[in-house]
Amino acid sequence: MIPRILYKKLQGYGQEHLLRYYSELSEDQQKDLLEQVKNIDFDLVANLENLKKGTAKGEISPIGALDLKEIEEKKAEFLNVGLEALAKRKVAAVLLAGGQGSRLGFDLPKGMLNIGEKIELSLFEQLIKNLQAVEAQAGATVPLLIMTSEKNDQVTREYFEEKEYFGYDKNFVRFFVQEMAPATDYNGKIYLEEKDRVSLSPNGNGGWFSSLINAGLLKYLHELGVEWLNIFSVDNPLQKMADPVFVGATIAGDFVSGSKVVAKADPHERVGVLCLEDGKPSIVEYFELPEEMIEQRDENGVLLYNYGVILNYLFRLDRLESIIGAELPLYVVEKKIPYLNEEGNYIKPEENNGYKFETLVLDMIRLMDNCCAFEVEREKEFAPIKNATGVDSLETARALMKLNKIEL
Ligand code: UTP
Repeated sequence: MIPRILYKKLQGYGQEHLLRYYSELSEDQQKDLLEQVKNIDFDLVANLENLKKGTAKGEISPIGALDLKEIEEKKAEFLNVGLEALAKRKVAAVLLAGGQGSRLGFDLPKGMLNIGEKIELSLFEQLIKNLQAVEAQAGATVPLLIMTSEKNDQVTREYFEEKEYFGYDKNFVRFFVQEMAPATDYNGKIYLEEKDRVSLSPNGNGGWFSSLINAGLLKYLHELGVEWLNIFSVDNPLQKMADPVFVGATIAGDFVSGSKVVAKADPHERVGVLCLEDGKPSIVEYFELPEEMIEQRDENGVLLYNYGVILNYLFRLDRLESIIGAELPLYVVEKKIPYLNEEGNYIKPEENNGYKFETLVLDMIRLMDNCCAFEVEREKEFAPIKNATGVDSLETARALMKLNKIEL
């Protein structure tokens, strides 16, 4: 029996179709489905139209950055400070690997994508290699926390086990699973994925810290004496994690957060730009910057809003703890969502067919008092693999990897 109160609630939200196949299910399946439905945040979905409008931005101004030249001049100092912190295990790396990579259209976890040509080399393996280089330099293993989602957790863990962590000390590796949010069609109706399964997707990379806490890993970090967390994405094989120079610059400058940035390829490049918003560090999406700001230049002809983020951030752990519970803006994102159609057939769409709800790690920068904008060379550190072909694809990433003499 469907509890009357629950059914009424569903009707109130126009979501009673979620129980369309209820009578066809076994008792266990029925129980399971009711449990899923009870856990849905229907207010979130009901607020869809408002959420789509986004939030108003404050007053935007440029942020001062450590540019390549300045970093080169102070490199020795930064390197010393960074290596000291790493040697004392004050820095842990957090790999965000909970995404679904829907643009790439690869069914396994994105980190398992083979980026090699003649050799087999997965994204995960390359990232571990990058971390091993730091380990060798600092003489200490960098603790690595890997965020997965319910959708890819098991496969990811099994993969690391099978590959014996690519030679990384598994005692310093921890996995944790991020939370999920419902996915809807364009009218806000939550999709069913199976007759007994509500369509849920990872709730964006903004929930990483609360998920890490829910997994009990804060205690672990404290026990290790970790003071900094370096967050980075899975899809950039040139990503340098726990980069001693970046760590050192952030510590030496007395910052509470840091962000690697690259100079924009052109003013209209579709990247989030690090700047100040009402005097606080903030990342503004390309479509949020007014045209006149996009083109604005300083007296040397350099764009005032020049620094694009590459999803490599540093956060001081105590500052993250001080913002626990702070709400992040929620984004409604168009995605391809597999679903059960009216006839009960499973459909894997080729085109976007609805919305997911996500918070983003970049909005945590806004909650920090300051941020070290640290410029890196795009060709050396930024080869994102987002799409199957064309811009930011495996092909473009391979070309950049070859440029950096990585054996493929
Ligand atoms: P993207 O924003 O590129 O999202 O993630 P995605 O899900 O991987 O790919 P698309 O948009 O569906 O094509 C940037 C980083 O954040 C992680 C991803 O794994 C990637 O490292 N991420 C994203 C999560 O860990 N969880 C999420 O819910 C979303």
